[in-house]
Amino acid sequence: MAYNLLKGKRGIITGALDSNSIAWKVAEKAHEEGAAFVLTNAPVAMRMGEIKALAEKTKSEVVPADATNVDDLTNLYIKSQEILGGKIDFVLHSIGMSVNIRKGIPYTESNYDYFMKGIDVSAISLHKMLSVARKLDAINEYGSVVALTYMAAQRTYPFYTDMADIKAMLESIARSFGYHYGKEKKVRINTVSQSPTKTTAGTGIKGFDDFYNFADAVAPLGNADAESCADYCITLFSDLTRMVTMQNLFHDGGYSSTGVSSEAMAKFGGE
Ligand SMILES: NC(=O)c1ccc[n+]([C@@H]2O[C@H](COP(=O)([O-])OP(=O)(O)OC[C@H]3O[C@@H](n4cnc5c(N)ncnc54)[C@H](O)[C@@H]3O)[C@@H](O)[C@H]2O)c1
Repeated sequence: MAYNLLKGKRGIITGALDSNSIAWKVAEKAHEEGAAFVLTNAPVAMRMGEIKALAEKTKSEVVPADATNVDDLTNLYIKSQEILGGKIDFVLHSIGMSVNIRKGIPYTESNYDYFMKGIDVSAISLHKMLSVARKLDAINEYGSVVALTYMAAQRTYPFYTDMADIKAMLESIARSFGYHYGKEKKVRINTVSQSPTKTTAGTGIKGFDDFYNFADAVAPLGNADAESCADYCITLFSDLTRMVTMQNLFHDGGYSSTGVSSEAMAKFGGE
């Protein structure tokens, strides 16, 4: 059911790799809610056939950009404003990649070149996206930027390795930039801390399925899926949340506030 929450709004959506991607669902929902937007992804990562299908479905255009490359990002904002006919109202940062995780390297033995790459792709890319937008004055007042994160930024999950530190940095950038951009241009910046979700980035993490089931058993509402995450992002892009900024918002079925559930206790012989 659509509510026209984003009618007349212009956006940029990163990170739609395939139909499992959280960004894919955000694009579908943003289209349903009346937004016009540009889809973008790293040229090397882009699966052209798949993103083109999404672009057709959502009547959007694709502008490739490596989120670590300031020139690419400058081109992305300039082209997006040309295509959409004005300044941007919302941006989704849905970008995550750790080479250490991909290569199965334990946290204590992290390779530092890979670590730096992960930081650049998954955290500093948010700073770059915001810095370029600010320089170009590309985002409207009360425009909303949302970046996706995970609770390993606050609590330790051994299998999440260097990405835990990287997400902590991402959340900090959202707060720090949120202060400056809010003061200057009333632009809002928040992170959404999402449940484990069965996507390419998610399932690439060692032990993902076991952890997915664990979180599902702990959260009173169960794990939040990609579609409900997209719904939440839409509310954050809408004017209904215009005073929400610099927050890390948990979207996890109550997992982050639950110590233990009876289902999890039962596995250890309790009731
Ligand atoms: N899946 C989960 O369990 C989960 C949980 C919490 C948060 N998140 C976060 O959600 C976000 C989206 O991930 P997803 O789960 O939808 O997986 P996904 O693999 O579908 O999306 C990750 C995206 O990052 C893009 N990307 C990688 N390097 C890039 C670069 N240099 N420039 C531009 N884009 C680049 C990829 O092409 C891909 O589209 C990530 O930030 C991830 O950490 C995921």
